[in-house]
Order: sequence, then structure tokens, then C-alpha cells
Amino acid sequence: MFADKVALITGARRGIGLATARLLAEAGAKVVLVNRPDEADGEAPLAAIAEELGRGCAAITADVSDSAQVAALYRSVHQRFGRLDILVNNAGILGDARLGMIADEMIQRVMATNLFSVITNIQAASKLMRRGGGGAIVSVASIIGLRGNAGQVVYGAAKAGIVGATLSAAKELAADGIRVNAVAPGFIQTDMIRHLPAAIAAERVAAIPLGRAGTAEEVAEAIVFLASAKARYITGQVLGVDGGMVL
Ligand code: NAI
Repeated sequence: MFADKVALITGARRGIGLATARLLAEAGAKVVLVNRPDEADGEAPLAAIAEELGRGCAAITADVSDSAQVAALYRSVHQRFGRLDILVNNAGILGDARLGMIADEMIQRVMATNLFSVITNIQAASKLMRRGGGGAIVSVASIIGLRGNAGQVVYGAAKAGIVGATLSAAKELAADGIRVNAVAPGFIQTDMIRHLPAAIAAERVAAIPLGRAGTAEEVAEAIVFLASAKARYITGQVLGVDGGMVL
């Protein structure tokens, strides 16, 4: 389904980003895996993942919260592939703190990583997509950006911002044949939630009508659907992938 398509995924080293990369590569896309450089927790190097995914996939190390690195990233994609068909804005970090404990530095870091990067990537990706006659952009928001959560004011604001950016970009880019959508995952078993105390994790699961946390693959399936031609008449939507948690 994605033969000859080039797909860029941010935060692709693990979790939802890696699961999405695997599905897109299996479906024939050339995947550009992007991740920041500084993690030393025993995960496979990005280049090794690209090699495992197969011919045509590439690894580019970049911190997407830095707009100069984002600009260099797209120059590199342009030189190497000459086109871009799909962007998945997945990179994100948590920034949990009660209001009294939120420092400016945290606001800046979480906003730069979770929201600023989405806008700069949409800007750069849409230029390449326009030249190629169209494309699809899917950003990973969160149920917290729709419903809120105590202790997640900054994260929730950034994720709500992704929803706003998605709606406006969908209107602005439709004439160029570029669809822009988002997914809003609920509670998904990845490294991001690994450090949550068991009692809080149990509380979250208890709030999910389907009775369990989701998997990275289940979110990836929704992202791939929105990126695919099966979703060719869908733009400006935020698809919940949350086992009914939003209800
Ligand atoms: P994860 O922590 O397992 O993976 C995130 C990846 O993004 C990591 O490989 C990390 O190194 C990379 N990354 C972080 N900052 C980056 C930067 N500045 N530049 C480049 N790469 C960067 O997390 P997970 O769970 O796979 O999350 C993926 C997305 O899904 C995030 O945007 C997250 O906010 C969102 N999400 C996750 C939920 C969950 O329950 N796990 C629920 C709702 C949304």
C-alpha cells in the first residue's frame, strides 16, 4: 500500500514511533527514522533499526525541539529521497508536575518538544509534500489534551496545541492535497509510562471501558490508517485510540 512512499517518523527509536515505523516499512514505505541522540539505556541504535527494517529505510539523529536541527533534517531528506509523502509527528516527553512545582524551564522544554516541533515539522514537511503533489501528516496528541489531568497542565496544553495546529493546518494545506490528522492515545504500555507507580497505573486502567491499557501497535495501526489512501477523504480529525477512556 505504501510502495514508493517516503515516510518520516519522529521519536522512532521505541514505543509508538517504532511500532509505526515497522508497520509502514512492512507495507512497503521507505521510512526515515528520526530520534534525538542522547539516550543511553541499552536501546538499539537508530541505524541498526533502520537496517533491520530493510532496504530504503534511513536513520537520522536529530532533536526535533531545535528548529535548526529540523531544518537540517529536511535538507537531508530532500537530498537523499527527493520527496516526502508521510510525516508522523510522534516525538514527545512527559512533564508531570503540580502547578506550584512547574518551572519555566520545564514549560519551555515540554512545549519545544511536544508542540513547537510539530509546527516546525509540518512547515518543512509540507514544502516537500507540495512539490510532490500531496501527502499525509499524522500527529500524536493525547487524551490529556482533550480531557485534562491533574498534574499535567504543561503536557495537556502542548497536546491541546497539537489539536489546534492540526485543525488549522488541515484547512491551510487541503488545497495542496495534504491531509492533516491526529491520534489521541489514552493509556498505552510504553517506556513513557514505565515509571508510573503501580497504584496510579491500576487507577488509569480502571478508567478504561475496554479494561486494559493499549499497545504501541494498536496506536500505530490507527496512525497508518490515517496516513494511508484508505483515509483519503479524512482530514482535520482527531482519532481517539483509548479503549473508550475518553467516554
Ligand atoms: P516513548 O518515550 O517510549 O517514545 C518517545 C520517543 O521520542 C523516544 O524514542 C524519545 O527518545 C523520542 N524523543 C523525545 N524527545 C525527542 C526529541 N526532542 N527529538 C527527537 N526524538 C525525541 O513514548 P511513547 O509512549 O511511544 O510516546 C509517543 C507519543 O505518544 C508521545 O508524543 C506521547 O506524548 C504520546 N502519547 C503516549 C501515551 C502513552 O500512554 N504512552 C498516551 C498519549 C500520548
